[in-house]
Amino acid sequence: MKGKILVAGGMGFIGSHTTVELQNAGFEVVIVDNLSNSNIEVLDGIERITGIRPAFVEADCTDMVAMRRLFDEHKGINGIIDFAASKAVGESMQKPIMYYRNNLNILLNLLELMPEYGVKGFVFSSSCTVYGEPDHNPITEDAPTKKATSPYGATKQVSEDIIADVIRSGSPIKAILLRYFNPIGAHPSAEIGELPNGVPANLVPYLTQTAIGVRKELSIFGNDYDTPDGTCIRDFINVVDLAKAHVVALERMLDNKSEEALEVFNIGTGDGVSVQQLLDAFERSTGVKVPHKYVARRPGDIVKIWADPKKANEVLGWKAEATLDDTMLSAWKWQQRLRERGIM
Ligand code: UD1
Repeated sequence: MKGKILVAGGMGFIGSHTTVELQNAGFEVVIVDNLSNSNIEVLDGIERITGIRPAFVEADCTDMVAMRRLFDEHKGINGIIDFAASKAVGESMQKPIMYYRNNLNILLNLLELMPEYGVKGFVFSSSCTVYGEPDHNPITEDAPTKKATSPYGATKQVSEDIIADVIRSGSPIKAILLRYFNPIGAHPSAEIGELPNGVPANLVPYLTQTAIGVRKELSIFGNDYDTPDGTCIRDFINVVDLAKAHVVALERMLDNKSEEALEVFNIGTGDGVSVQQLLDAFERSTGVKVPHKYVARRPGDIVKIWADPKKANEVLGWKAEATLDDTMLSAWKWQQRLRERGIM
């Protein structure tokens, strides 16, 4: 056993895939999740893939009493990955207090508890949203951050600052901030994947739901941008590749491979792919046509952003491996599995 990791928000999309990769790498996992945006059956999927059922504590990380109980009952936790957060950009505009309260209190609680319980390493789920609209692409970690356009984005920026301040104050912890680009796809087994609540706000779940007939038509928000085909450009990162980045980040801290107490890495493929190209890749790889129309731009969208992942490639020894077509196939297989199970 390599160590015991607390995965906060481990029942969600990225958390569940990361739990699988941690267990595959020999870590013992304790998940804490309030199931606000996930369900208990995720545990079965993780167990079917890995043969191991992770320990699960149903609790809200904002609840300090419950969190102390967790650390008392699960002694010897070495590292924490913090996925527990509200993450819908649009909803955060409607409910800013909820977003700040939830996302920041979870972080503050975990950072306060770490030294008390001797937890050494912390991985934080950050986002490329901290860069705003880049001046040039691909973007490196030292590019300036820009004022967030939503409370959700602001919580990511403030969280990064809080972690830096806590480490500067002398807290005996190490932290790695992973700035994700656009995570998509699902585990190739289709045992776990993304389960959006209600009408999806993100591109790929909307696309796969349209392909299977749950939604009538995919709206492409804007085809008059200053890009080769007029649609926005993103760096779509396969969720299993993304999950593996967390494993190497933790190993780096727990094995004392890093000199610095705080490090930040872009987690992307390095390839800019347009919304149109993504749709084309889906249709090509699955053979399924997706009804779509071109509509007005979505307010607040970044025009183009993709990662320079060189630092993660060289320092972490991590690299995105999945092809876009494989990722599209995995997203489709997952959507079909949801249909088989009568979920969607
Ligand atoms: C957003 C957030 C990001 C967050 C991510 C996951 C910003 C700037 N970005 O990414 O921080 O981590 O959501 O919650 O706040 N699109 C369509 N039709 C659709 C849906 C999307 O054309 O039905 C387009 C969008 O206009 C965009 C691209 O697809 O150009 C990707 O959109 P989306 O999946 O929502 O992710 P981001 O906005 O990039």
